[in-house]
Amino acid sequence: MQCNNAMEPNEILVLLKTPPAERPALFARANKVRKENMGDEVFLRGIIEFSNICANKCAYCGIRAPNTKVRRYRMSDDEILEVAKRMPEWGQTTIVLQSGEANSVEENKRIGKIVARIKKETSLAVTLSCGNRTKDVYAYWRGCGMDRYLLRFETSDPELFSKLHPDCTLEERLQCLRSLRDVGAQVGSGFMIGVPGETLEILARNIQICCEFDLDMIGIGPFIPHPDTPLAGTLNAYHDDTDMYFVAVAVLRIVNPDAHIPATTAFDAVFPGHEGRNLVLQRGANVFMPNNTPKAYRGDYLLYPDKPCVDEDTGDCSLCILGRLNLLGREVGTGPGHTRKKR
Ligand code: 5AD
Ligand code: FES
Repeated sequence: MQCNNAMEPNEILVLLKTPPAERPALFARANKVRKENMGDEVFLRGIIEFSNICANKCAYCGIRAPNTKVRRYRMSDDEILEVAKRMPEWGQTTIVLQSGEANSVEENKRIGKIVARIKKETSLAVTLSCGNRTKDVYAYWRGCGMDRYLLRFETSDPELFSKLHPDCTLEERLQCLRSLRDVGAQVGSGFMIGVPGETLEILARNIQICCEFDLDMIGIGPFIPHPDTPLAGTLNAYHDDTDMYFVAVAVLRIVNPDAHIPATTAFDAVFPGHEGRNLVLQRGANVFMPNNTPKAYRGDYLLYPDKPCVDEDTGDCSLCILGRLNLLGREVGTGPGHTRKKR
């Protein structure tokens, strides 16, 4: 794996330290890099949060296993298929199936079967986002037709990673990304911006790792403290300068010119009224992930508070985003929206 844009961490750091008065120019540069490398198309990847059952205890996450306030659910295969079949008419060419980390032989088989069914019964590209697994399981899913996988490394600092994740090490997480690459999946990863304890040096390294892993897709979003987690009451590292969230995306784009970068949902939690994601689309992002989870389950998949679109139903976000793209002067991406990387 190699860096597609040999930028040193200290160069990245300089960009991250862009003074507020010069940030509009940084955002414009990121937007230009996005336009030149990815065009004006915005790829729509509809996400179904098909299960919130999770065995892990990630310190930041609202659906962590010890949170007994959460009503646990798992959608049936037919429920998932029903949504999947409607996606092409909404302009969505990729389905993202996300869940908590429930690693059992049975669950892994169920996931493989649903991937195979979606590939057989629809034209969708399939992305999974279900956590850490062995290379064998990833290979099995790839054989079932999985095109891509999303697994954020969350932070590049091994100690901070361990504090946040009692269930695994940074090295194990990074090994998962290598395994995914080995089995031929397109690899998406990313991190949270501003977890407590993050420094600008760590943020710079986060961005550089994305480059080193030559990621096909990079999703980043602000850390938001959840009241029912050990990080309740903590503050985002950039809470007094929330424009840093956008600076992070802009620098990410400049350093990773041809990666798919989504405008992630957490931005709308911090900047409501769809302001956050609209701005990210104008400061480097070229992907949007409409929430396709049926309304009955949305309120039970709150990784962080103030998650947007919780009162909307399947299909609502798909229409909403079409209107928003129109206003932003952007087009809906056509074709499967595979990686732009030439390997
Ligand atoms: N704040 C922001 N992002 C969060 N995620 C989970 N919990 C939070 C939180 N409290 C993000 C993680 C994970 C993704 C699915 O959601 O980065 O990888
Ligand atoms: Fe969900 Fe607008 S994107 S309502």
